[in-house]
Amino acid sequence: MTSQSTLLRSLPVDLDAHRLPCHVATIMDGNGRWAQQRGLPRFMGHRAGVDTLKDLLRCCKDWGIAALTVYAFSTENWDRPRDEVDFLMTLFEMVLHRELAEMMAEQVRVRFVGDLDCLPASLQAEIHSAMEITAANTAVQFTVATNYGGRQEILHACRRLAEEVQAGRLLPEQIDEDHFAQHLYTRGLADPDLLIRTSGEQRLSNYLLWQMAYTEIYVADVMWPDFNRQAFHLALKSYQSRDRRFGKV
Ligand code: IPE
Ligand code: IPE
Ligand code: MG
Repeated sequence: MTSQSTLLRSLPVDLDAHRLPCHVATIMDGNGRWAQQRGLPRFMGHRAGVDTLKDLLRCCKDWGIAALTVYAFSTENWDRPRDEVDFLMTLFEMVLHRELAEMMAEQVRVRFVGDLDCLPASLQAEIHSAMEITAANTAVQFTVATNYGGRQEILHACRRLAEEVQAGRLLPEQIDEDHFAQHLYTRGLADPDLLIRTSGEQRLSNYLLWQMAYTEIYVADVMWPDFNRQAFHLALKSYQSRDRRFGKV
């Protein structure tokens, strides 16, 4: 953490505590470029990105933001070189194991969303135990999208609903938005109020397609490892300057 970040321990005075987003989603992008710009291998960027994530999570707790959802690995990321995919899977497992005690101390509830069955068995075991151990924590709801794809999630929900209809437990006309959302991986979690994507890219990359129908989008020009509390402060300032109309006038 930089000394500037340490100064931002409590909510900056120019932010309105009553108008903070309840749920922030992030696309943690630019790790590879961050490393390459420094002449380092891409994996060093992923490793640096973990520190950013840890501080952002702590910042959400410090500033009173109840839910943080991060995109760790997309269904498309399997197409990366094998050694990068293997490195990421090992990193996720190692970090989850290492940070569990601190998540307990900080009252963080961690949850993974995505098609978890395709992940390495040892990572799945770590995920399931972390979800179980932290299940009763209430300070921050921390959701990690891993082997996650928005289209795949919607199809998964459609299949479950079709099965219910086929079994005679559900009528097609009973399927409304709330019922549909109950079949998504994110069931029980309110939709994100704010999406932050780092590295300047302006696309969703198959992230939370259903859930972000009315989410405010903020693109930060810094690479993810450089996204610190000051950068988060700017994102929240931008969010608070907006008029969320939800289609009304
Ligand atoms: C995001 O950083 C992390 C993951 C997708 C796991 P990238 O690895 O996409 O970094 P860039 O976009 O190539 O710089
Ligand atoms: C999105 O980033 C996925 C994650 C951050 C995990 P990518 O780097 O994979 O997205 P694209 O390829 O630039 O759209
Ligand atoms: Mg990227």
